[in-house]
Amino acid sequence: MPFKDMREFLAHLDSQGQLKQVDVELNCEIGEENEMQALMRLVCEQDGPALMLNNLKGYNTPQHPVMFNVFGTRERTAMTIDEIEPLTAKLKHANILGDASKWHEPKIIDAANAPCKEVVIEEADIDLSKQLPLVWFGKEQASYITGGVVVTKDPETGERNVGWYRLTQFTGAEHPTGGSYTEEEQKKQLSVFCFWNPPMSHIGLHLAKAKAMGKPLEIAIACQVDPVIHMAAATGVPFGADEYNFAGGLKGEPVELVKCNTVDLEVPAGAEFVIEGVFHPDAEQTIGRHSNPVGYYDAIQVFPMVDVKCITHRNDAQWYATMEMVPPFDHNYIALLPVEGEVLSDLQRKAPEVQDVVVTPNMTYVVQLNVDGARKPHAEFGKYILHAVWGSAGRWGRTAKIVIVVGPDVDPYDMDSIEWAIATRVMPATDIIINESGQAFVLDPSAPKGHHGFPVTGSQMGIDATIKVPERFAEYQEVSFPPQEKVDQVAVKLKGIL
Ligand SMILES: Cc1cc2nc3c(=O)[nH]c(=O)nc-3n(C[C@H](O)[C@H](O)[C@H](O)COP(=O)(O)O)c2cc1C
Repeated sequence: MPFKDMREFLAHLDSQGQLKQVDVELNCEIGEENEMQALMRLVCEQDGPALMLNNLKGYNTPQHPVMFNVFGTRERTAMTIDEIEPLTAKLKHANILGDASKWHEPKIIDAANAPCKEVVIEEADIDLSKQLPLVWFGKEQASYITGGVVVTKDPETGERNVGWYRLTQFTGAEHPTGGSYTEEEQKKQLSVFCFWNPPMSHIGLHLAKAKAMGKPLEIAIACQVDPVIHMAAATGVPFGADEYNFAGGLKGEPVELVKCNTVDLEVPAGAEFVIEGVFHPDAEQTIGRHSNPVGYYDAIQVFPMVDVKCITHRNDAQWYATMEMVPPFDHNYIALLPVEGEVLSDLQRKAPEVQDVVVTPNMTYVVQLNVDGARKPHAEFGKYILHAVWGSAGRWGRTAKIVIVVGPDVDPYDMDSIEWAIATRVMPATDIIINESGQAFVLDPSAPKGHHGFPVTGSQMGIDATIKVPERFAEYQEVSFPPQEKVDQVAVKLKGIL
């Protein structure tokens, strides 16, 4: 059952007992009284339900209730693409990603039928401090737009990109180095987390090209859309391919788009909010503190600015807010499932022996093979897979700092099982590869920083935890483990005693 928009998805969660209305007052203002990070910790640690926050203290737009923890479990993430079981969802994602013949081009509908156009705010009337919700988290010094799929077009080829990137709002924000933000910045501008110099994302590539060509780059941010589009936007679809088409593939039918009012871009017709704008040709702004997905505050970052040209939204528009911190947090899994699907689909094209890829919330990549020992295609096959991950088409595999390859008898979701394989199948001097010139993950605090303030290169570690037959041994010692049926039988016998 594909969902038309985020509302249908929330209604489905509600019908499954997975959405709760919260009328208790909770503080979302900047400062010590803020309760949003603590709330996220509480509900995510308990694998808790999605919430609709109806009574936020210090909230600038109480007419727009805030949805929270929407994607907080592997199961709810699977539900965005009409699955329940996480592995089935990942395999569906990987399979459709790897086969563009299953994708569907989007359908453009008339603006008159697009709910996202019910209210239109034109450039002269824009005052972001009143028109866009502001929700602060923890010690962050700005409020961020976190539910936006961001659309741009390649200034050279016109090819579209849709990515899920966050944006900084300047209203009420504290400047990290003691300066202040101008009234113009607070009312009419946003900055985008597009790492463009050097480019680390596809929007970054578009912006780098636009700057080199001296061309303006238009941008549209569609907030809270059909969840399948969020999933596609978080996926590293190959550069030049269109995430809307991939979303159509995941959905099994075209997604519905509508043309923007002031820029030559298309957005999901069922979006709650749409913000249209143009990148400012030169302006960048320093922002921070910002809490990142590896669990640290970024003190200072520098990002390009966008001049907002138009806002449209639904009459009774709803907002989504999330934050990153030491995992778990709400959107862990909707960020990780696309990475797992992307790397799995890429690896399976290179090696059918790859059975599963699990990326842990701390971003360790575990690759499980369907063969091990003498049944591997050749000696040192585990190392071939390590290099294949680092040679991925997308940025995630390339930036994988710790990669572990295991055989079919190791559970890639269970750290105890993975640790057992490392402890009993790995000789560090021969079975670990240190790649000294890897690409760093942009938010890794242990990697050296480039001139734009984020890491570019770093070292990586690959652990080949496969059985070293034929590499070192003709045969391997037998594993001591009872068959599961026997364990189940004994459990039945001892029912009521244990
Ligand atoms: C809630 C959320 C926020 C994200 N924010 C950013 C961001 O600010 N910058 C970024 O480069 N990637 C961010 N990502 C990851 C990207 O969405 C993901 O890497 C995607 O593949 C990027 O699209 P691209 O491959 O077309 O660049 C975020 C993911 C999620 C789920």
